[in-house]
Formats: sequence, structure tokens, C-alpha cells
Amino acid sequence: MCDNNPRVPLTNEVGAPIPDNENAVTAGPRGPVMMQDVWLLEKMAHFNREVIPERRMHAKGWGAYGYLKITEDISRYTKAKALQPGTCTNCFVRFSTVAGERGAADTERDIRGFACKLYTSEGNWDIVGNNTPTFFLRDAHNFAGLNRAVKRDPHTGRRNAQSNWDFWSMLPEALLQITITMSDAGIPASFRNMDCFGEHTFSLYNENNERVWCKFHFKTKQGLKYLTDEQAQQITGQNREYHGQDLYNAIENRAYPRWTFAVQIMTDEEARCHYENPFDVTKPWRESEFPLIEIGELVLNRNPTNFFAEVEQAAFAPAHVVPGVGFSPDKLLQGRLFAYGDAQRYRLGVNHNLIPVNQAKVPVTDNHRDGQMRTDDNYGETIAYTPNSEGWWVPRPEYKEPPLCLKGAMWNFDPKDDPTDDTSRAPGELYRSFDEGEKQRLIDNTVRAISSVTKNIQLRHCARCMQADYDYGKRLAQALSLNICVVCELSALSNEKLIEATGHPYS
Ligand code: HEM
Repeated sequence: MCDNNPRVPLTNEVGAPIPDNENAVTAGPRGPVMMQDVWLLEKMAHFNREVIPERRMHAKGWGAYGYLKITEDISRYTKAKALQPGTCTNCFVRFSTVAGERGAADTERDIRGFACKLYTSEGNWDIVGNNTPTFFLRDAHNFAGLNRAVKRDPHTGRRNAQSNWDFWSMLPEALLQITITMSDAGIPASFRNMDCFGEHTFSLYNENNERVWCKFHFKTKQGLKYLTDEQAQQITGQNREYHGQDLYNAIENRAYPRWTFAVQIMTDEEARCHYENPFDVTKPWRESEFPLIEIGELVLNRNPTNFFAEVEQAAFAPAHVVPGVGFSPDKLLQGRLFAYGDAQRYRLGVNHNLIPVNQAKVPVTDNHRDGQMRTDDNYGETIAYTPNSEGWWVPRPEYKEPPLCLKGAMWNFDPKDDPTDDTSRAPGELYRSFDEGEKQRLIDNTVRAISSVTKNIQLRHCARCMQADYDYGKRLAQALSLNICVVCELSALSNEKLIEATGHPYS
């Protein structure tokens, strides 16, 4: 808009010229301001409405455009056009921290969000993941609790380590994600230096409507790099937008960030025989058992030109998939299918998919009508109701997903009652995969984060660590000057007994 004109005339909100933009209309040179300075009123009123609600979580983030190019043939698994060899799909990616508000520093210890909107030839497909292969919890019932625990304390308005660790340690399934967050990976050196994951189990289905289960991975080509707590603290003191600046500069300098795009595939038969629930988002699929199949490359090569229009107003939704890609019985994913569109209807309005960054690049004929900020022709004079006899808004049964057979009673099942539920396996394996330096930094980071918390919660967390790996629990207990025998005894308890035994502050 008027890009090359250095003398752009100022108009009011409906195009009439503005003669004076600095001197209010007053009654006499020193008199009061007149109501009829309507441009002043308009400016103040618009300014008062410029801040939109921030995302409830992942509020601080940065974005860039690029493309996903598929190089390998996985048509035996999926008919998605965006996943066919040779296909290059434009995309917009937003990286974020989770707990911090819109003004928070980039370099906090936290997981990082990774949301990728693929403008495919079959409609938009959003992969809304993180830089971790798994998540803290597995039931949407607990999601609001997680955010309330890691965000501001209702009494003080400050973040509160006590609530954070109390909540985390109440959930046995959270230990893997806690261990990742407290490890080196808790503060990536940049967005470019981290892997990203879809986390959930999704499904793929091919032209014959045969379904497999799938996890999405993006492996950084810049190498994994991290910041220590000390480095991050120094950077935060100097530049709170460190990761945003790094991403922007890399793209401006044509050092385009790249990730290898890979999938893990599990057949339905394998899923039924799997030793644990393959739809539990707190449990990774071992890469030794379900190897990564590299299928393409994600490249980011263009910065947005307006942060608010393109990054702040971006709206990603796990519910947005395309033919050939589907959901899974993952309980948390099912909860997310509702949450995002709902949040965006509140944050951006019911017509947020008309905002250019969110708009599909194919014709949209959803027959949605009206609503605030309807900025297109609203389908003009076409028939608004369905079904109709004139052939408007006709569904396409050929795009139906294959049916999924389910069995079992309808009930609120607790995964902890599932005899295969081993919440210690993956954190134990991760701990044992660390070298000595990584283990020590994990312990040191955890001690810094948990030291202000009451002893009962420190004990509960140490007991969980010991359940995953004896050395993990012992070292942390030692570093916190806790009694190792007590931690050992606690680690032998069932989840209920452990929570009961650590329910009150120890003296
Ligand atoms: C039931 C569990 C979850 C719920 C209810 C939930 C809900 C939300 C909501 C409401 C937003 C803000 C959306 C907006 O205002 O545009 C959001 C953002 C986000 N969530 Fe979740 N979330 C859940 C779990 C997860 C998980 C497991 C992941 C990773 C796999 C994830 C990744 C993200 C990311 C990356 C964003 C930021 C998207 C952006 O950049 O705009 N969330 N989440």
C-alpha cells in the first residue's frame, strides 16, 4: 500500500483528507478542546481498541513464511496431495514460548510452540506442535490446570514455583516432559536450533482408504543447540526478543532455516499389539521400533511485513486437516480439536479465517454467513440453506475417512488403571541416554527451579524421578539435601499413596 510514496496523504477512517494531525481544535488559543475535533475522538477511540486478547498460552511468538517440499514417496500411506513426492506447499510457521505473556522474554526455560499452516491445494492443514515429542498430560480436563499452575498466582499476580511444581508432580505422566524442560532442551539457543514435533498420533489414509497411525517430526538442519540458565539470564537482561531477532536476521541474511520432515508409522495391527497406549501423548514411540522415515524438507525464507497482521492474527487449529490426514483416538488431541477454533472466535472473531494469513489459497465455499467483521461479499445472493434443489453447497462423500472400529463402554476411564501404563519408562530411558554433563545440568537446572518449593513437593518429584531411574532420584535428592531413605520409601509407593504421603509440607 503506497509503498514507494514518501508523502502519503493522511485521511480519516473513511477517506476524507485530514488538515491537521497535531493541534486540537480549541475555543481560542488557550481554550478547551471542542467535541467537534472528531479526528481526535476517532484517534483516541481507535487506539483504545488496538490491543486484542493475547493467546491464553503461547502468547509470545514469532513467525515466518516458507515451504514444505516432499521428496519421498509415501503414497502407500496417504493420498494427501501435500504429501506426494515433488509437491511444494507454501506455509506460515509461528514459534512461541508457552507460559509467558505477550511481553515475556524469549529465553525463558519453557517448551516452545511450533505451529505450521500449510496452504495446500486441498485447503489449509495446520500442524500445531511443540519442540518436544510428548506433552505434560493426556486428558483435556487437566489443561486449564496446567496453565493456571505455570502462569500467574491469583493472589500475588506473580509466577509461583510452588503451584508449578505441585501441579506437575501430581501427574505421574508429566515426568518425561518435566525432564525435557529441565534438561538442556528447556532453553533452545534459537528456534532454528530445535527439533519440532506434532506430538500426537495422527492418522494417514491412502487412495484405498487404508489407515495407518503416524507421528510428525521436523529435525533441525542447523544442529541442536541450547543456552544454559546463566547464558539465558544474561541474554534476557539485554534482549528479550532474542529468538525473534535471530529468526528474522537469519531469513534477512538468506541463511534460511531448514528442517528435515519425517514421519513415524505404526500399522493398526501394531497399534493393537503395542505394549502401551500408542494414543497416549505422554508416551513417545521409540525410534528404534518405529524408525523415522524422512520425506521432505521445511524451509523458512520470508519474514512477515507486519507483525500484528500476520503473526498476532495468525490462527492455527489442529482441527484443520486435509484428505489423507486424520485424527486418532488420542484424548488430548480430541480436546484440542474444539479448543483452538473456540479460542480464535473469542480472540479474533467468528470470521478469523478471512484474515489474509489464515485464508486458504483455494476457493472456500463453506456457506458460513454473516458475523462480525465479514469483509468479503458474504456469498452475495446465493442460496444460504442446505439441502437445496439447486446444487449449492454439496457435500463430497468420496472424501469420507475410512470408518474406525471402536469398542468398550462409555465411561471416564483413568489411564493409570490401565495395567500397561508405565509413566516411568520414557523418562528413565531419556535420563539414561544423557551423558554425564547433561545429567548434571538437568539436576542443577531442576534444583534452581524447585529449591523455593516446600519439601513435600520436592520429595514427591524426587520419588517420581527415582521411579524412573534410581540414580536420577538419588542425585536430585542429594542436591536438594533431602533424605535419600525417605525418597526411596516414597518411590516404592503407588501413585495414590505417594500423593497422600506428600500431601502436606514436611517439617
Ligand atoms: C487439551 C490440550 C490443549 C488445549 C485445550 C490447548 C489450547 C490452546 C489454545 C486455546 C491456544 C491458543 C489458540 C489461539 O488463541 O489462537 C493454544 C495455543 C497453542 N497450543 Fe495448545 N492446547 C492444548 C495442548 C497443546 C499441545 C499438546 C500442543 C503441542 C502438541 C499445543 C501447542 C500449541 C501451540 C504451538 C500453540 C500456539 C499456536 C500459535 O502459534 O498461534 N497445545 N493451545
